[in-house]
Amino acid sequence: MKAIQYLSSEQPAVFHEVAEPLAAEGKVILEMLYSGLNHRDVWMTKGLYPNLKGGVTLGSDGVGTWEAKRYLVNPNVNWGEDALLPGDQYRILGMPDNGTFAEKILIGSDRLVEMPGHLSLQEAGGLSLAGLTAYRALINRCQLEAHERLCISGIGGGVALFALQFALARGAEVWVTSSSQDKIEKAISLGASGGYLYTEDSWHKSLNKLSGGFDVIIDSAGGLGFSQLVSMAKKGARIGIYGGSKGLIQDLSPQTIFWKHLSILGSTMGSDKDFREMVDFVAEHKIHPIIGSVYKVSDFQQGFQRMDYGAQFGKIVFDHRK
Ligand SMILES: NC(=O)c1ccc[n+]([C@@H]2O[C@H](COP(=O)([O-])OP(=O)(O)OC[C@H]3O[C@@H](n4cnc5c(N)ncnc54)[C@H](OP(=O)(O)O)[C@@H]3O)[C@@H](O)[C@H]2O)c1
Repeated sequence: MKAIQYLSSEQPAVFHEVAEPLAAEGKVILEMLYSGLNHRDVWMTKGLYPNLKGGVTLGSDGVGTWEAKRYLVNPNVNWGEDALLPGDQYRILGMPDNGTFAEKILIGSDRLVEMPGHLSLQEAGGLSLAGLTAYRALINRCQLEAHERLCISGIGGGVALFALQFALARGAEVWVTSSSQDKIEKAISLGASGGYLYTEDSWHKSLNKLSGGFDVIIDSAGGLGFSQLVSMAKKGARIGIYGGSKGLIQDLSPQTIFWKHLSILGSTMGSDKDFREMVDFVAEHKIHPIIGSVYKVSDFQQGFQRMDYGAQFGKIVFDHRK
């Protein structure tokens, strides 16, 4: 069978022949139908991820069949017993353990959650990691309530887009930022109240004025724009951080944080409990993940490039069916 593997940071990922998985106790062999790309897969192929190991199949998301039923893959490996925090042995599927970008994968049966019936296979293929991250950051960590106003930075992001859908399902008012007016318009067509280009001068002042300020903000960029996001926080606001693509946070005034009684909350992935709750939430609210592009798995490089350029709006998924 074939799989997309990371070999070394000196070369792009390859789609090549690998050994079929062998049955093992407590594990099942899942035949993959669709898998989803996350930025982590792209970081890895550039060597920008800790503890990289050559010869590992990438991929954290996916849907597959086992005994004639369709299952979503929970990408957590060893979260541990405490739903509040991951244990020391916690890992994310797809490095250093073989991930989902393969025809067949060997996986613990406790990692499988039945696919909600309202989802298409493509939608199911792109849900797991980004849906889990958005759910924990927004619902579990920031405790977003129906009457609150939320700002999501960089709405073109996979996690950001799930956050938009989850927040709207919760009944919150949602505003977005982006580098692209087209992506802002798409977010508005999905139900966002409005948005602003973070590439414009003084964008935060304009967005603050337009929206009236935010009870909750979630961000995966950090960097120079973070203090501008914080300037739009209302008193008592919660700010969730799940990524740091733009590097160190600068010019953040401690006075702003303590005077406004702000909470800054880090969030990574989510517990197995969060995963089950997220899938239930998606089923209950009949949420359809937004799919941006679908590639045959053999054309995976096009998907990696699309994400690297930031061109996507919606999940990039790979079709594993023959
Ligand atoms: N902690 C976790 O568990 C976890 C889980 C998933 C992802 N992450 C991290 O979160 C980040 C996003 O991941 P993803 O998979 O959602 O990636 P993605 O789909 O590639 O999204 C990246 C998005 O970041 C936005 N962005 C870029 N520069 C920005 C800036 N200066 N200010 C605000 N937004 C900016 C862009 O939005 P526009 O196109 O709208 O401009 C871009 O589309 C990555 O760093 C990833 O490693 C962490």
